Amino acid sequence: MNKEYIFQQFLFLILLVFTSSVISLKPCGHEHFLSFVTHFNIKPVLHYIGENNNTNFEKSPNASSWDPNWIESMGGIDYPDSQNRSGFFPIKFMPRQNVFYCALPYNDLDQWGRKISSIHIPWADEIDLNDHRDSIIQHRWIRVATHEVEGYCQLEDVGPGGSDDFDYVFGPAHAIPEYEHGGIGISPALAQVLGMLNHIKSRDMVMWSFVDEHHVPNGPWIFKKEKKEKLLRTKRKY
Ligand SMILES: *[C@@H]1O[C@H](CO)[C@@H](O)[C@H](O)[C@H]1NC(C)=O
Ligand SMILES: *[C@@H]1O[C@H](CO)[C@@H](O)[C@H](O)[C@H]1NC(C)=O
Ligand SMILES: *[C@@H]1O[C@H](CO)[C@@H](O)[C@H](O)[C@H]1NC(C)=O
Repeated sequence: MNKEYIFQQFLFLILLVFTSSVISLKPCGHEHFLSFVTHFNIKPVLHYIGENNNTNFEKSPNASSWDPNWIESMGGIDYPDSQNRSGFFPIKFMPRQNVFYCALPYNDLDQWGRKISSIHIPWADEIDLNDHRDSIIQHRWIRVATHEVEGYCQLEDVGPGGSDDFDYVFGPAHAIPEYEHGGIGISPALAQVLGMLNHIKSRDMVMWSFVDEHHVPNGPWIFKKEKKEKLLRTKRKY
């Protein structure tokens, strides 16, 4: 055995170790952090439960794309105006769901069931192949931020403007249409956290990305029914 041969073997071994370590870097379990794209410069639009705007959201006003009784599930219409709100909450009823919700223009389901494109969702390993009714993106957490503040919301509706923009929602695309009708629908509570409740100005832009639930920090977006009940009681001075 000459030196050159040994050296070649050595290089080969190094290469082998290197490739196998790269291959084993696949995302494991429910940690999808590496595959979450941050979308910058996205125009937000206000979207609230009970809103009558079916140009942007096809199932509005009474339903979401996944919940035919959205108003009922929440407990009432989530009016954004200040006389109907107290803090982050609607004043006339007890919210039964998280008031921090949002919408993106992709649905993993259509009238025939699960879309083929849904197998490319970063957490597609959670798909139950026998289940063609339950969305695997509904209730997912999203971080939305301006340059000054951040807020968190759960995905509860589809829109604005469409239901099939996979390349934008899960990829790096930033298609021109998003610019016109907005690229994310945000609830009154989230708009308030971001400082844009009363008027989303035409130049207001946000960045957003999906986040894993265990990366969501504590804040008003963590829905605890009892906490809200207590808060409402003090506000109403029962
Ligand atoms: C629907 O929402 C869009 C964007 O916020 C707005 O421009 C449009 O006027 C709304 N339509 C109705 C009927 O409220
Ligand atoms: C939508 O809900 C309102 C009350 O929340 C109700 O009056 C109306 O009939 C509903 N519309 C439809 C189409 O179900
Ligand atoms: C406030 O809520 C009431 C229903 O409780 C509704 O009729 C009214 O339109 C809301 N105000 C605004 C400005 O939307």
